Amino acid sequence: MGFDVDKIRAQYPALADGRAWLDGAAGTQVPEPVIEAISDAYRAGLSNVGGPYESSRRSSGIVAEARAAVADLVGAPDPACVTFGPSMTSLTYRFAGVLALGWNPGDEIVVTNLDHDANVRPWVQLAQRAGATVRTAEIDPATGELPVDDVVGLIGERTKLVAVTAASNVLGIMPDLKPITDRAREVGALSYVDGVQHCPHAHVRIADLGADFYATSAYKWAGPHLAAVVAADPWGLENLHPDKLKPSPESSPERFELGTNPFAAMAGVVAAVEHLADLDTDATGTRAERLAISREAVAAHEARLATRLFDGLAGVSGVRRHGAPQGPTTPTAFFSVQGKAPAEVSAALSERGLNVSAGHSYAWELVHALGIGPEGGVRASLSHYSTTEEVDRLLTALGELSA
Ligand SMILES: Cc1ncc(COP(=O)(O)O)c(C=O)c1O
Repeated sequence: MGFDVDKIRAQYPALADGRAWLDGAAGTQVPEPVIEAISDAYRAGLSNVGGPYESSRRSSGIVAEARAAVADLVGAPDPACVTFGPSMTSLTYRFAGVLALGWNPGDEIVVTNLDHDANVRPWVQLAQRAGATVRTAEIDPATGELPVDDVVGLIGERTKLVAVTAASNVLGIMPDLKPITDRAREVGALSYVDGVQHCPHAHVRIADLGADFYATSAYKWAGPHLAAVVAADPWGLENLHPDKLKPSPESSPERFELGTNPFAAMAGVVAAVEHLADLDTDATGTRAERLAISREAVAAHEARLATRLFDGLAGVSGVRRHGAPQGPTTPTAFFSVQGKAPAEVSAALSERGLNVSAGHSYAWELVHALGIGPEGGVRASLSHYSTTEEVDRLLTALGELSA
């Protein structure tokens, strides 16, 4: 079989410490080729772009390669669709700032309470400043599912933008986005899809999602701490004019990027996408073709482990899972252990050699909608490098803790 988790794990130095790294949703570890690409870029020497010498051309080449790599990863039609920034949060504020320039009192935006706050607060704050109305689509508190018809029902003739997640960072729920993005397009509104927890687990085709903008953070898929917002087409950026320095490039996507790009980290992004493309060693062809095969192999591996985790949690008395996903999910479980605070559970698991996060994970509206508040829950999140043995270690440890 081309997808060999032991061989994959051997490429990740951090995993050699023997701990179970079940916190991929908070950030995955980085494989050797990514570490090498970053240090190689520095070793070779980097200069700022625009100079008539080799080290400057090298930086420009890295930027171009990084845009092309992310375009392949999400199925964007052109590298010019890809804008880089330090984090999804900062990029979303950047895009909210420029998109809101076109909003007026009476206009409406739609957000959801399933989303991470990075895809809620920037839009809400900018809408308030513009005098626009915010409509919030709400989850079903019994299941955590976002009823798609409810979201669609909130989109009307005055809607300017719909901000919706492709995957919840705590419940793992992946809403059916197409009816939502179709309706947005029908009324002339834009859709901004948070793909931060979706991209690590799915073979992303931005056109299939119907998203006008898709946000992704490389540190959730084996890359460095760097994020990108991908426009569905490069012309989507042409009519947007963000605040920028006078001498900085007028071209897009460059005019959306502030200051000097982190060239070495961008070299790491290229290596991370190559790594994802090669996770199934049977995959052949262009990078996009290898990605298609390898992403499917990852999804199958993670689905197997997720079933084991979800079924296992249901069998541990004293563990209550939040949400009851009815449709597709990422391999992420959010739960509480009776009589113990989530942070206490995380600390106890840590003592047993497990890295499992706890808290609200910035799913701020969601933890309130679920009735658990800022204390949140415990989040076990699997990655392409997770193993059956790690899932079992977690289930055994939870059994001991809740005994
Ligand atoms: C679903 C989701 N959206 C947005 C973010 C914010 O991403 P960043 O840390 O790149 O700002 C996160 C971070 O965990 C996330 O999980």
